Amino acid sequence: MKTSISLKPTIFVIFGGTGDLNMRKLAPALYNLYSDGYMPQKYAIIGTARKKLTDQKFRDVLMEGVNSFSRTGKVKKEKWSKFAESVHYTSVDVSAPETFKSLKDDIEKYQQEFGPGTQVVYYLAVAPSLFPLIAKCLSDYKLAGDEESCRIVIEKPFGRDLETAKELNQLLTSIFTEKQIYRIDHYLGKETVQNIMAFRFANSLLEPLWNRTYIDHVQISVTEQLGVGDRGGYYESAGALRDMIQNHILQLLCLIGMETPINFDADEIRNKKVDVLKAMRPFSPDDIRFSTVRGQYTKGWVEGKEVPGYRHENGVNPDSNTETFAAIKFFVDNWRWQGIPFYVRTGKRLFQTSSLITIQFKDVPHQIFPAAVTEHWQQNRLIISIQPEMSIRLQVQAKRPGLDMVLNPVDMVFDYKGTYTTETPEAYETLLLDVMTGDQTQFMRADQVESAWELLMPVVNAWESKKSLSFPNYTADSWGPEDAEALIARDGFHWFTLPLNKD
Ligand code: BG6
Repeated sequence: MKTSISLKPTIFVIFGGTGDLNMRKLAPALYNLYSDGYMPQKYAIIGTARKKLTDQKFRDVLMEGVNSFSRTGKVKKEKWSKFAESVHYTSVDVSAPETFKSLKDDIEKYQQEFGPGTQVVYYLAVAPSLFPLIAKCLSDYKLAGDEESCRIVIEKPFGRDLETAKELNQLLTSIFTEKQIYRIDHYLGKETVQNIMAFRFANSLLEPLWNRTYIDHVQISVTEQLGVGDRGGYYESAGALRDMIQNHILQLLCLIGMETPINFDADEIRNKKVDVLKAMRPFSPDDIRFSTVRGQYTKGWVEGKEVPGYRHENGVNPDSNTETFAAIKFFVDNWRWQGIPFYVRTGKRLFQTSSLITIQFKDVPHQIFPAAVTEHWQQNRLIISIQPEMSIRLQVQAKRPGLDMVLNPVDMVFDYKGTYTTETPEAYETLLLDVMTGDQTQFMRADQVESAWELLMPVVNAWESKKSLSFPNYTADSWGPEDAEALIARDGFHWFTLPLNKD
């Protein structure tokens, strides 16, 4: 946790320096950290890739990325020039390990210049197939350092099943210690997601209600309007289950389900999250049949434009069995949550882009109001809207003003826009700063990754081994397959959405 900033000199090595992730996320985040005064006094950013580029050319490429994707808009000339003085480029070809020699020379040069205590961060913004190669080269060239001086950051997917995740973890931990490894799940860096811990554990009024006695069910719905776009190749081997549920959504579920940590220590918090994953009910074949739904989009119209079905997207097999939608009912078998369903759904090309967590409370134990007064009755709900609206709403009943007693639901709203004037940092700004300060709270530990895979493997295997005969089964711009409505309707509930906010 950061309260004040005094950062050690840092050498930031980005593998995949000319790639999409660096352009869209890392470079804008590093530049914004610099602009807001959150970069160390002494730092160097070394981009690496196979291409041969001069420092100047690399800086120009990065500037284009920042100009196109930064939340703060185009760079300010003077700020950028100062920031870019510390940006460098070294060509490294992972298939020719000897090229690591020049990277080693660069790192040593900055280590000498910056003096004792300099830390090195390796960011692997490359395809997962390159993780093992790069990690091995860092080891062979004695660049892996120790817990104090060196960290490695990797992006999901962390394996594509339990076995490959274990292999990756074993390889990484044979070279680095767990304290050096930062597995990024960018959802954990989102401001509204970080606020879940604050909301739950900094307010005494919630805890007494936060259990099976008062909560009816929980929904986590992460829907996207976009299709797979140009990521068809990657998505074919992932699908919604691996791409969103194994990581982002299960992490959200852990934040809602976890017990109170005894302090804000990274491992204590991660222990409490792993406990949730370990308590989750394993899937039997019947559960897979009745508690999971998969979908794939077909063509449709989005905002007046016709969009292709998934099977016609670039890089996608015309006969693909990959799911672009998944809905699952989970249970957490412990004292707090026994019998309380957690419904999750996610998908591409859905009607609305929105990430919502809804906690529906149980109904009043006894109704004192006559039926005529309660026509609009609704159980209390707490709605945490992660994006695009950033808010927390508590829906309660109130008396409508007037001479008659009529009840209707109203929202008590904490809305970021109306409450704060400060700008919200991007998830990557938060997470990169955490890497530099050495705070692993918002990063996935090996056992979290493996527990999430372990839970989902029966579903992964069932969906892979049995082709869906109904695919494609939902139209672009809809709320997904009908079966997903049935999944929750069977229990007497419906998926909750917020009205579209047009401003
Ligand atoms: C990524 C997934 O991890 O998260 C993408 O690979 C998905 O498929 C994205 O679109 C969603 O992130 P966000 O921050 O836009 O909700």
